[in-house]
This record gives sequence, structure tokens and C-alpha cells, in this order.
Amino acid sequence: MSLYAVLGHPIDHSLSPRIHEAFGVLTGRVVRYERREVHPGGLAHALRTFASEGGRGANITVPLKGEAFALAARTTARAQRARAVNTLSWEGEAWAGDNTDGAGLVCDLTVNYGWPLEGRRIVLLGAGGAAQGIIGPLLDQGIAHLAIFNRTLERARNVAESCADARVGVIGSGTGSDTPPFDIVINATAAGLAGSLPMIPGIPDAFFHDVIAYDLMYGPKARDFLGYARAHGARAVADGLGMLVEQAAESFQVWHGVRPPTAPVLTRLRSEIGGG
Ligand code: ATR
Repeated sequence: MSLYAVLGHPIDHSLSPRIHEAFGVLTGRVVRYERREVHPGGLAHALRTFASEGGRGANITVPLKGEAFALAARTTARAQRARAVNTLSWEGEAWAGDNTDGAGLVCDLTVNYGWPLEGRRIVLLGAGGAAQGIIGPLLDQGIAHLAIFNRTLERARNVAESCADARVGVIGSGTGSDTPPFDIVINATAAGLAGSLPMIPGIPDAFFHDVIAYDLMYGPKARDFLGYARAHGARAVADGLGMLVEQAAESFQVWHGVRPPTAPVLTRLRSEIGGG
């Protein structure tokens, strides 16, 4: 039987095996899906072992998405735009790379929450791998403006420049990008991993007035940021659990050719994790 896995570090608490096995049940397949602890620099070796054991598909998570992009023999356009791979498929002799993160976020915002993105003004906190992976898919939705706000201004500038899109600006660079009102604030920093708020000096309270605040992390790691956003005027908040389930559904479709229903899986995980 084909084998699937999620590879990354840390990986102990990954929900991906549960999600993919639930999708298997919902679509009438038996899915064998494992977690594998892989440290930076170790992906090539881990993938060789995995393929020899029957591995046919792998989800790649923090901190290996860039490494997976470099290793893939072929990559989709959306992976190239993100310069990161979260979904690998074995093609007999080599791995093909895709990136389903941005599609997962867009699906969660627009379908699960029913928040259309067209014409929206968005603040993006962070300019690392997670942030870069979602900018293209947000622009594709016809957003009006995306203002990047990062602890290290230079990194935000580089990311904005590489987008080469007049709708993308940088907060703090004096380009007029920092004018509220905004509609959505997305936290794509890694601050929640350490259980902290994004320490971005000078983020004005006005940025949160009447916005939807979304954190790419879920559960306890998103709690501080979403609580802060609510206390500073956000009208709705959401963590990234739906994005996690939707990106998994996209990966499942890449591997099995069918998109599984996500609502039952999301409802069950939400009742265990709480928040939202
Ligand atoms: P990932 O792939 O998870 O995005 P990354 O590429 O290392 O990881 O990027 C981490 C992002 O979180 C960066 O935008 C980083 O800001 P810097 O560019 O200034 O390093 C941001 N970040 C991490 N910890 C943070 C903190 N405590 N406060 C604010 N931003 C933080």
C-alpha cells in the first residue's frame, strides 16, 4: 500500500496524519500516513529512505519548505511563486513539488468564513517563508492593497520588490502604504511558535479598527495575537486551523485525484482545540 507522511521539525504534534486518515475514510480509501522528524539539511536523505519504503507523497512543514523546493525535480507555478514546497509527489524516479498553502488560506477565508477578498486592503505581518507563500494567492483574488509590516524593514522591502505589483507596499517605508482603514490583518510571523506576540514596534491601534484578524497558526499559538487584535478593535478573529485542513485537502487531491469534504474534519478538530 502507498505510504504518505509529513516531514519537519518539530513534528510530534502535527495533525496531518489525523486529517489525511479522516479524508481517507470520507472518500472510501485506506490511507497510511505517518509523521517523520527531519532536521534542516536532512531532507534529501529522509526522502530517499521514504521512497524506498513505499513513500508516494509527503507534506513538508517548518523548517523544510525551502529545502523541498530546492530538491524537487519539477515544481508547479504556485510553488515557484512561493519559492517553497509543502507537497511532494513521487514520480517514479524523482519528486515533484507543489505548494497548497496559499490555496488553503484563500479557501478558508472565502469559503469557510465567507469573507470575500476582492477589493480588500490587507496588512500582512511578517516577511518570512510563510508570508511569501500567501502573497501571490491573495493578489490573485483581486485584493486592492497589501501592506507588509515586518520587524526587519529591509526584509519587507525585498519581499515587496520581488512581487513587482503596485498593490504591494511596505509599512514604515514612507510610501503611503500605512494608511488605515484596513479590512484584514494577517499574522504570518513566527512569533506564536515561541508563544509571544509579534514584537513589531509602533503598529498603530488604528490598524486593528473594525478588521478581521487572521493568524496562520492555530490553537494556543494564535491566542495571544488574536486576543490582542480583538482588544484593539478587530470585529472578527480566526486562527489557521481551517487553512491547515484546506491545504491538506488540496494535497490529498494532488495525490488521490479527489478533493475530500473538509467540514466534518474541521468541525471535529475545532471541538477538540477550541478557539477559532
Ligand atoms: P516562516 O517560514 O515560519 O515564515 P521565517 O522565514 O524564519 O519563518 O520568518 C519568520 C518571520 O517571523 C519573519 O518575518 C520574522 O521577522 P524578521 O524578518 O524580522 O526576523 C518574524 N518573526 C519571528 N519572530 C518574531 C517576533 N517575535 N516578533 C515579530 N516578528 C517575528
